Amino acid sequence: MLEIWKGKQILQLKDNYIEQWFDVLNYGLVEDRGFRLNDANIEEIKSNIRKDYIEYLMSCSMDKNLQAYYILRDEYNTIVAVCRIVFDEGEYYLEGLETHRDYYRRGFATKLLFLVMQELKRNNILKIYSIVRNHNAKSINFHRKNGFTIVMEDKTNTKFSLNVENKIRQDLFDQWAKGYNKSVLKSEKEANYPFAGYSEVKYSVFDIISDKHKAKVLEMGVGTGEITKPLYDLGCEITGVDLSNKMIEIAKSYMKKATFILADFSDALNEISNKFDFIVFSYSIHHLSYNNQIELLIKLNNYLNEDGVIIIGDVSTLTLEDMNQLQNKYAAIWDDEEYYPILKKYQLSQLVDIYKLRYVQINEVAGVYKFRKK
Ligand SMILES: C[S@@+](CC[C@H](N)C(=O)[O-])C[C@H]1O[C@@H](n2cnc3c(N)ncnc32)[C@H](O)[C@@H]1O
Repeated sequence: MLEIWKGKQILQLKDNYIEQWFDVLNYGLVEDRGFRLNDANIEEIKSNIRKDYIEYLMSCSMDKNLQAYYILRDEYNTIVAVCRIVFDEGEYYLEGLETHRDYYRRGFATKLLFLVMQELKRNNILKIYSIVRNHNAKSINFHRKNGFTIVMEDKTNTKFSLNVENKIRQDLFDQWAKGYNKSVLKSEKEANYPFAGYSEVKYSVFDIISDKHKAKVLEMGVGTGEITKPLYDLGCEITGVDLSNKMIEIAKSYMKKATFILADFSDALNEISNKFDFIVFSYSIHHLSYNNQIELLIKLNNYLNEDGVIIIGDVSTLTLEDMNQLQNKYAAIWDDEEYYPILKKYQLSQLVDIYKLRYVQINEVAGVYKFRKK
């Protein structure tokens, strides 16, 4: 359970909450400050440290730059992990992320980070930074594992950044990875939004690509590899991009010799220097806003071989009116945070200057686009 401490509320915290909070941070403080546990006046030293910390916590009540202190409790209401978000010169920083020493290696820090991300998104804070000392290998690893990317490194520190929305998406897809294929099948069987027509999308992608011998294929948002596995088996050279480690693990188990890039779509392009015959987005481009979709599709022109093709298979309609109708029909289960392709939007964009566009509406829900490089 996430608890948020901020403003005057900090002054009214119960004593045992403060004690528990301090207990999370307490471990190692004495040694960190260069004292020895066998120093004669160790108890006095400890008590001074505690006093400093509690004074600091109380001062947070007045600190306008403190977004909040975030407290994670376990099922017994014990504080198991804490962190804070602080505003500094236009940027938000994650600071003081600590797990209680008796609760290490149980995923509490990861869980706290996930809950804080959702809270930040609610407050429209979409990017955070974190500065870590280079000698703190444990913290550096934690940041890497949790999708932070390095923005600056010097002799002493590494500065990381994290895109809040991507982090939330990554966690959701990590959690979904195991059951993903099953839930796609179920939605398809019931001929329901969002996956009605999934198999037809899959066969269309296969038909288009399998015409070319040993095609070089990049799948953006490769997921569990459902779409590219048959092409891999056919001898195509597959590169899969995805921000979910768990999804990639599954795709890798089917396509052992494929290349995988664990990254956001745009960041992944910085790691790619070769060109492809086909670039596929199957139920993945809708995670970007319409402007970002168009921007990315324009960029991808440089990653296509001559005559190369981008294929998009997704929930899709011809017009915005059709999309609104679909949304009304499936209002109870519609995902408002996804931006499904609409033919008209693409036709009215700069995309038509650099691509020849073909579109097939597969059923009421799904459609397949072919953008051939001009
Ligand atoms: C609905 S699944 C589709 C998976 C697969 N292409 C398929 O058709 O079964 C969307 C996938 O896109 C990935 N994804 C979403 N947004 C992404 C982003 N911005 N960058 C990289 N991958 C992303 C998710 O992690 C997820 O694996």
